[in-house]
Formats: sequence, C-alpha cells, structure tokens
Amino acid sequence: MTSVIEVRGLRKAFGDHTVLAGIDLTVERGEIFALLGPNGAGKTTIISVLTTLVHADEGSAVVAGHDVHRSPDGVRGRIALTGQSAAVDEVLNARENLVMFGELSGLSGRAARHRADELLERFGLTDAAGRRVATFSGGMRRRLDLALSFVVQPEVLFLDEPTTGLDTRSRRELWHVIRELAGAGTTVFLTTQYLEEADELADRIAVLSGGTIVASGTAAELKERVGGDVVELRDAAGALLRSEPTDGSLAGVRRAVDLLDASGAEGTVSIRRPSLDDAFLALTGDGLPVKEDA
Ligand SMILES: Nc1ncnc2c1ncn2[C@@H]1O[C@H](COP(=O)(O)OP(=O)(O)OP(=O)(O)O)[C@@H](O)[C@H]1O
Ligand SMILES: [Mg+2]
Repeated sequence: MTSVIEVRGLRKAFGDHTVLAGIDLTVERGEIFALLGPNGAGKTTIISVLTTLVHADEGSAVVAGHDVHRSPDGVRGRIALTGQSAAVDEVLNARENLVMFGELSGLSGRAARHRADELLERFGLTDAAGRRVATFSGGMRRRLDLALSFVVQPEVLFLDEPTTGLDTRSRRELWHVIRELAGAGTTVFLTTQYLEEADELADRIAVLSGGTIVASGTAAELKERVGGDVVELRDAAGALLRSEPTDGSLAGVRRAVDLLDASGAEGTVSIRRPSLDDAFLALTGDGLPVKEDA
C-alpha cells in the first residue's frame, strides 16, 4: 500500500491555546480513516490544515503527493471537502446546485444532469429537487451539501462530521455511498464523535484527545487494548444499572462482582467483551456520545 496522507509533528495553537501538540498520521490509499474525538479536540483544525485552509505552526503534511504548505494548489486539485457548515447556493434549487457544481468540475451538461439525478435519488432529495435551497430544513441542506462532494470522484475526500444532524436512514445511505467511493479507490478521511460510526465504517481509527493521537488502529485493535471483559448488572427490564471493567482474570471478575454486590443494587449479572466505548474511556478518561439509533 502507498500512503496518501502523511502528517508529521503537526502543531497548531490559537493564541496561547495549543490545539494540536504534535500529530503524526498516515493514511493509505483507498482507506476509510476516522479521526475520532470529543467536541473541541481539534478534528476540524486537522482537516483545515490538510485541506490547506489553515496553516500549521510546525510540522509537515503531504496530501496526495503535495505538501499542503508548499503546494496548496496541488492539494486542492485532488481533494474534496464537506465541512460542518453548508456551502450550497440558497437561490438555486437542489438539482441546479448539483448540475452547476458538476459543470464547474468539468462534467458535460448531460453528464452533470445525469449525476445530479443519481445523487438526488441517493440522498432522498428527488421530491425536493426543484425547491429552492432557502426553503430546506437543516437535514436536507446537509444531505445536499454531502451530495455535492460526491459529484466527481476526488482522490481524497474529507468529511467533517458527515452524519451529524442526519436521521438514521440518511446516515446509512451516506455510509453506503462512502463505502462505494472507497471501493472505487477514493481515500476517505472523516471525523466523527460517534464510536459506532468509526466502528461501522472505518478501516482504521485514530483517537484525538488533549492535542495528540492517543491511540490508533482498527476498531478490533483498539478494543483489544482495553483487554478484559466487563461485568454488568442489569434490572429485570434489561436496563444497565452498573458495570465494572475487569482485567479478564478470574480474580478480576470476582472483584468486579464483589464491587457490584457492595453497591447494593439488585439485578442480573452478565459478562461481555469490551466495546469501543470502553476503549475510549480507558484511553482518554472521557466517554464519547453514543448514538441511540445507530
Ligand atoms: N480560528 C480559531 N481561533 C481560535 N480558536 C480556535 C479557532 N479554531 C478552533 N479554535 C479552538 O480550537 C479548539 C479545537 O477546535 P476544533 O474546531 O478543531 O475542534 P473539533 O474537534 O472539530 O470540535 P467539534 O467536535 O466541536 O467540531 C477549540 O477549543 C476551538 O475553540
Ligand atoms: Mg469540528
């Protein structure tokens, strides 16, 4: 495999607030890479540096063979970015937005229209195709904004929290489109606050916390790092009352059961493998939000 993104020693501060304190990352061609971290961890800042929108204070970043600092135009010609804020034209309707973007990206009128209709269908916007974007709900805007980044196939696609604000159906559809794109050779770099999303979608995950990458690997490797099983206590309806991590040993499990017993709560005890959420608690000392309906 060849790497498409190479980041070394990246540092960035806003005033005296250090946001990135030395980031190293490598992303291979065709990979779906998830940068996972809580609010304010610096995910958007990393994307902004990699897409040439923000200058790093120190370190280097090469994207699709071009240095972001020395050759920003080289980078821009090979990437697409969907940010956290929408970039669609309010006055045009949804279809016009897509067609215009396709034509600006070098598609013929016919190809642009064809692609527009395909994407409208994909993102559940066919019925709203002729409506001005100004009348769209937040979720509809988000889907249109995402559809725009799929008009042409970039070498590297950056998606900053792509599924935030989407309902379950749209989120699954988006995951499907992302997988398809990666299957066709596009490297996908996405950020997310959701473990399920990284677990479901990403070939590799990097966890950003306190300005550094505290762990990286496949979801399975990250889970492995937490090691032991978790002992849970649930009530009659199956709701979780308490849980205790263990080191996986018999003595560890016994200790966990004793702790649950000492808590005075009544319920049924079960043991399960650690989840990615447990891995996060162990790695960052901080839980991440969990999507109920993912
Ligand atoms: N232009 C800026 N000027 C000053 N501070 C900034 C600027 N951009 C980001 N920050 C700060 O840097 C930190 C990281 O911000 P960033 O947007 O990269 O986080 P994030 O991980 O993307 O968070 P979220 O999940 O909320 O999108 C935050 O504390 C933020 O306030
Ligand atoms: Mg952000």
